[in-house]
Amino acid sequence: MRGNQVTGGRAARRAALALFAAAWGAASGASAQGAAGSADAVKRGEYIVRSMGCADCHTPNKMGPNGPEPDQTKWLSGHPAEMKLPPAPAPSGPWIASVAATMTAWSGPWGTSFTANLTPDKETGTGQWTEQQFVDTIRSGRHLGRGREILPPMPWPAIRNMTDADLKAIFAYLQSITPVKNRVPDPLPPPGAPAAK
Ligand code: HEC
Repeated sequence: MRGNQVTGGRAARRAALALFAAAWGAASGASAQGAAGSADAVKRGEYIVRSMGCADCHTPNKMGPNGPEPDQTKWLSGHPAEMKLPPAPAPSGPWIASVAATMTAWSGPWGTSFTANLTPDKETGTGQWTEQQFVDTIRSGRHLGRGREILPPMPWPAIRNMTDADLKAIFAYLQSITPVKNRVPDPLPPPGAPAAK
């Protein structure tokens, strides 16, 4: 009993020390990153964006010699405004969603959504956004953290679990890429639904 208490006490102290060490590591790591300036954040942001597949939906595909490939001249600029689409097919049986060949227009029970222009263009992209607005958008699932709800298939319910540092790194990277002027259309309501207010 007594032995257990002693071990328990030691274990608790060890756990406390480990926690302290982890917190210290995190704090010093963060300050080292901050001190290194935003070049590090941009690099980390690019790594996250490329490994999480943001471009799968936010960069339009075009036909290449080996099949569809992301159009590098439109990197992360969202659904191309000039692309006119016929109405999406109605959901049928267990098949509830459709996607355009560009992978930038999606239709399902939520209506039709068009992927956003994430490039830093000031009028049609994220060029006027603050870092905080970007973090708030992802965390709340609302445009700029307070506007309309962001529709599927934008995976914000997963991305919102990232750390502030990683979300800020994504934003730093997005601000560093080539701005592309492209005014993405507003989403369309599902057929038969009351028009959006
Ligand atoms: C499966 C497709 C898909 C993936 C993957 C995806 N998105 Fe999206 N994203 C969308 C769609 C569709 C919209 C537009 C939804 C709407 O209009 O409500 C959107 C919207 C957004 C918006 C909101 C823009 C605004 O004006 O409010 C941001 C920011 C965003 N995406 C960032 C990202 C980032 C960063 C990643 C990668 C970590 C990512 N997305 C991955 C489909 C996707």
